[in-house]
Amino acid sequence: MSTLAGIVYLVATAFFIIGVKNLSKVRTARKGNQYAAIGMLIAIVVTLVEYAGLDWRIVIAGLLVGGGIGAWMAKRVEMTGMPELVALFNGVGGLASALVAGAEFWGKYLPNPFSKDFAPAAIPDGLSDQLGSSIWAVAVILSVLVGSVTFLGSLVAMGKLSGKISGNPVILPGRHVILGLIGVATLYAAYMTGFGGVAGGAAIGLIALAVLASVIGVLAVLPIGGADMPVVVSLLNSYSGIAASMAGFVIGNPLLITAGALVGAAGLILTMIMCKAMNRSLGNVLIGGFGGASAADDSRDYTNVKSSSPEEAAMVLEAAESVIFIPGYGMAVAQAQHVVKELGEELEKRGAEVRYAIHPVAGRMPGHMNVLLAESDVPYEQLWELERINGDFKNTDVTVIVGANDVVNPEAIDNPESPIAGMPILNAHESGTVLMIKRSLSPGYAGIRNPLFERENTLMCFGDGKEFLASILEELKDT
Ligand code: TAP
Repeated sequence: MSTLAGIVYLVATAFFIIGVKNLSKVRTARKGNQYAAIGMLIAIVVTLVEYAGLDWRIVIAGLLVGGGIGAWMAKRVEMTGMPELVALFNGVGGLASALVAGAEFWGKYLPNPFSKDFAPAAIPDGLSDQLGSSIWAVAVILSVLVGSVTFLGSLVAMGKLSGKISGNPVILPGRHVILGLIGVATLYAAYMTGFGGVAGGAAIGLIALAVLASVIGVLAVLPIGGADMPVVVSLLNSYSGIAASMAGFVIGNPLLITAGALVGAAGLILTMIMCKAMNRSLGNVLIGGFGGASAADDSRDYTNVKSSSPEEAAMVLEAAESVIFIPGYGMAVAQAQHVVKELGEELEKRGAEVRYAIHPVAGRMPGHMNVLLAESDVPYEQLWELERINGDFKNTDVTVIVGANDVVNPEAIDNPESPIAGMPILNAHESGTVLMIKRSLSPGYAGIRNPLFERENTLMCFGDGKEFLASILEELKDT
């Protein structure tokens, strides 16, 4: 590679890093995306120029077709369908890495291993020896392995998110034994690919490796409940980065190595943030079985619930000087973000201080609530993260919970036996009055009862989030 190309690659890497840094804050996320896109454009152009021997017409055609499909899909996807699209992008990223590494390997060492004229003796002591180092062969193996796991794993995750595959955990009998056997077979296929020393065996090994890894991808994701898919998608995103990085080693492209490593690290960090916010280990998520069918309805347990009408809720809010809204998954279902904002503005007009408390795993994907509230133009300054706002609930007159449940469940603090024990929650119960808007007493995703429903200071507001809030707003405007 020329020195100039190396320097330009470095510039592209800097753009990626600045992009990721900016993506970590809601306010700068849009800019971060643009920086990363510029980095990618630089990367593509310099690669085209550097490898001028390539038929650039094919590359441009690929860019146009692939970019066109990507742009079309991104344009028409609903906000709630975004996790599925991300899952698909991760999957095809993994597939691309596996194909690049596999093709490079095949092209170099297995031009036609099944032809009659092919002499296995041409590769006498194992493919890796030919290379002088086994590292290259390991990179090929990892790229194909991780890329294939990512591809089919992501397709299953996408199916679960879209409801085309049941969101319930699918637990196969004896799955650990099955996975163990497939694992051993995969290791053997990997050995035959890079170190078996027989070209025909390497060819079969490579294909077997891709097929077995794909089966692992499917079997690993099937037992995980639909609502844990955001964690899975984030982890698979990290895998796609690892596969890309390995493919970078295989084709000797330093930018692919660094960009892949960035994606790998960022995906893993996001995965860990989500696990921490649920107080669950990654192992616990990956073993599966949480959520879905296991979510029992505990509504029969409540004895002391006070319900409220929109008129009564409006009166409570009219007297409030400080109000915190807590949005949750139900706000997304009801598409209540616009009316939430309108109500917030009405309360501000009446002199109240209005803020929005955002729990890191409220909803069903990272940043779900931020995205919805940004869509309805709630100013960023009014969005407060859990750590920043949790101390303020005790000084707040009214907390309005819109379709959130698990993220405000005091069981996480009070009951060490609870499945969500230790999960950080928003301390809504500490505020003067809690208005809890949801349709029924049914549990949230974790499937457990919520004692907040019967607290002395809680008024349950039964109804669809959007309709109930609209009625409150109407009442307020009439007074
Ligand atoms: P949940 O605990 O799932 O509760 C959502 C509530 O919304 C339900 O109890 C439901 O009650 C209510 N609801 C549904 N439709 C509604 C509508 N149209 N109007 C009003 N309310 C409606 O939500 P949460 O508090 O946001 O917590 C998120 C959960 O997902 C956590 O357990 C979290 O661990 C899990 N999770 C999140 C993520 C990410 S990244 N966000 C990832 C993995 C897991 P009704 O049926 O009675 O209305």
